[in-house]
Amino acid sequence: MEYVTLNNGVKMPLEGFGVFQVPEAAVCEQAVSDALAVGYRLIDTAAAYFNEEAVGAAIAKSAVPREELFITTKLWIQDASYEGAKKAFQISMDKLGLTYLDLYLIHQPMSDYYGAWRAMEELYKEGKIRAIGVCNFYPDRLVDLCVNANITPAVNQVELHPFFAQEGAIATMKEFTVQPEAWGPLAEGKHEIFTHPVLTEIAQKYGKTAAQVTLRWNVQRGVVIIPKSIHKKRMEENFAIWDFTLSDKDMATINALDLGHSEIIDHSAAETAKWLNGWKIHE
Ligand SMILES: NC(=O)c1ccc[n+]([C@@H]2O[C@H](COP(=O)([O-])OP(=O)(O)OC[C@H]3O[C@@H](n4cnc5c(N)ncnc54)[C@H](OP(=O)(O)O)[C@@H]3O)[C@@H](O)[C@H]2O)c1
Repeated sequence: MEYVTLNNGVKMPLEGFGVFQVPEAAVCEQAVSDALAVGYRLIDTAAAYFNEEAVGAAIAKSAVPREELFITTKLWIQDASYEGAKKAFQISMDKLGLTYLDLYLIHQPMSDYYGAWRAMEELYKEGKIRAIGVCNFYPDRLVDLCVNANITPAVNQVELHPFFAQEGAIATMKEFTVQPEAWGPLAEGKHEIFTHPVLTEIAQKYGKTAAQVTLRWNVQRGVVIIPKSIHKKRMEENFAIWDFTLSDKDMATINALDLGHSEIIDHSAAETAKWLNGWKIHE
């Protein structure tokens, strides 16, 4: 495993394991236990995934020392305010069964996220969180927060894969010392990514799969990845990307697959803002 050093000196694994769309407790707990056994140390959950307890149960049963783990959870829009964030953080910690969190992220750039950020800055200064960051902050929102906040976000987790490479957004993150992290690093299986002819042809040269080449491409450009799978064999496959290096030519060939837009979600659409704000995770 390789690590990146965040803008506050904290080391973060370059590869982790995501648990979006695994709401069933038993399935999620088993998946996290399997991922820890495979060697993943970063686990990415969220209040809005409804599986923080299952993640916590797997952590509690694991023999991996707490200091080796890097646990991320996220604050949902409904709780995006100063008071809301303080309360939601404690609820997440209770569900996870943790005394400190490695990374707390604002899940969406919506509602009173400045109030939430001030609460997160305080929790960080109190030592309850090792790093604070954001998700889905497109360059305009990210720069605005970086310019106005007391603490610059350590991480911005956005959709990043060969079909939505976001080179410009990554350049802005790097300019402001914000570590890019990829959600949907396998494009959530879209665009026939696992059998894509270009990715498959490159993969064959290295004795790897299209999934492995896809993940390697992101880490090679300095992006943290958190692929999700409920299948242990795929977890192993996705983790076996540290024994090869893509050539500059192959990196460029993969860069050329960029469509320049998401096929999963359009964060600039009015409908998306309506839909996300309407998604409630508690009363
Ligand atoms: N901040 C945000 O707004 C946000 C949004 C989305 C996701 N995320 C985070 O990012 C993580 C990863 O993104 P994601 O879960 O959306 O999508 P993803 O990791 O790009 O893709 C997951 C899909 O690919 C399949 N898969 C995984 N490895 C495979 C392999 N080697 N061969 C074939 N199929 C494979 C999985 O199926 P099986 O499980 O059946 O194997 C699943 O259907 C999430 O789990 C979550 O933690 C964050």
